[in-house]
Formats: sequence, C-alpha cells, structure tokens
Amino acid sequence: MKREIIQTLDGSTTIHLPEWEECYHSKHGAIQEAQHVFIKNGLSLFKNKEVAILEIGFGTGLNAFITFLESQNYNQSIQYTGVEAYPISATELSGMNYADALDAGASKPVYLEMHGCSWETPNAIGNHFNLTKRKQFFADITDLDCYDLIYFDAFGYRVQPELWSTAIFKKMYEALKDNGVLVTYAARGVVKRSMIEVGFVVEKLAGPPGKREMFRATKVV
Ligand SMILES: C[S@@+](CC[C@H](N)C(=O)[O-])C[C@H]1O[C@@H](n2cnc3c(N)ncnc32)[C@H](O)[C@@H]1O
Repeated sequence: MKREIIQTLDGSTTIHLPEWEECYHSKHGAIQEAQHVFIKNGLSLFKNKEVAILEIGFGTGLNAFITFLESQNYNQSIQYTGVEAYPISATELSGMNYADALDAGASKPVYLEMHGCSWETPNAIGNHFNLTKRKQFFADITDLDCYDLIYFDAFGYRVQPELWSTAIFKKMYEALKDNGVLVTYAARGVVKRSMIEVGFVVEKLAGPPGKREMFRATKVV
C-alpha cells in the first residue's frame, strides 16, 4: 500500500496511507498524541518501577523513542517489546524528524539504532532501555502474564476493525500481568464493549489535542 510522509500540526512528521485516508499518528500532532496517550496516561502510572511494555504497532518507533527518553530522564528500567508486521523503509526512516522536534538531537543516533538493531532478539539501548522488535502479526501474539503496560496503537477501527475485536483484546488481557494496563487513543463504544467482554475495567479519559476522549483498560485481579 502507498505510504507518504506528512507533517502534523505540532511540527512532527507521520506516515499517511492515502488509500485508507489513515495516518500512523494524529494529524493534530504526532508527538503531542504519543506523550498524552502513552506517557502521561500510561507510563507515568509506573514511576520509579521497572516496567515491561508491549507496543502494538512499532511503526515509526516514535512511542519507543519517547519512552527511551523517559527511561533516561528518570533512570527507569524499561523492557520494551514492539510488534510490527510491516516495518518502515530506510527512506521513510530518514524522513522522520522526531529527535529534532523533541529537542533531543543528541539522541538521534539512538532513534536510528532502534531501527537498525536486530529483530527477534533483545537489544540494550543506553543504560536502562532494552528493545525487542518482533516482526509478527498481532493475531499471532501468544505472550502470557508478562507485561505491565500495553501501548495499543493499531490503525483505527474504521480501517482495521478486526484489530479491535474481542479475539485481539483477549490476547492483550492474557499478555498483561495482574493489574496491568492497556492505553489507546481510541474511544469508540464498540471498542469499549470488546474490552469489557474480555474482562478489562475501562476508563474514559480526556483525549490528546484534537480528540475528546481515549480509553485506559486495566486487568483488575
Ligand atoms: C498506527 S500505526 C503505529 C504507529 C506507531 N506506534 C508509531 O509510533 O509510529 C499501526 C501499525 O500497525 C502495523 N500493522 C497493521 N496491521 C498489522 C497487523 N495485522 N499485525 C502487525 N502489525 C500491523 C502497521 O504497519 C503500522 O506500523
């Protein structure tokens, strides 16, 4: 499928799929969205603790890079697993401006290393961050009880409804440890119903700029 690079309203780049009229991030601001949904409403619940994160859709690596920066700022140990079936190309990577847009130019080599490092094996990136990239379809995930936090960042329900099904959320529920948390930018009723059906307790939170609401789902045990 054709993919093109565009700039979002906070100045950070993203990838746009013209056939689907869908983007990897919010057009209102890729970095703002990542910081609000995944860091403020997700990672910040685990301050001062070692945390194991599963990302659904590694994509451009923006969420992984921002999480890496947090791990360095707070000396927090993070085990990060990013699942992705269609990795971005070298040309697409060179078009992403996240290190500069985050005022983290000195960490640009880290962002590139995240993409250049091996798939399927753990890679130590800096002192506190360990990255495992898995080239895999979400439907094939079989992890059990091993993550504190899931960044659920699949394309939207409008274009990939099958990724917001009870079958996928059951896998997410099983992959989380007890009291683990899943955060997502989505806020549709049909998504909430699927989450509740597999056992999650769901909260509706204020969304990032340009979006009213988002969900946080907890495996309350
Ligand atoms: C919304 S984008 C993820 C954005 C990413 N978190 C980032 O920061 O760039 C969704 C991602 O899911 C991937 N994807 C789509 N369908 C998939 C599937 N069935 N299994 C695995 N990956 C899939 C896409 O290639 C894309 O990278």
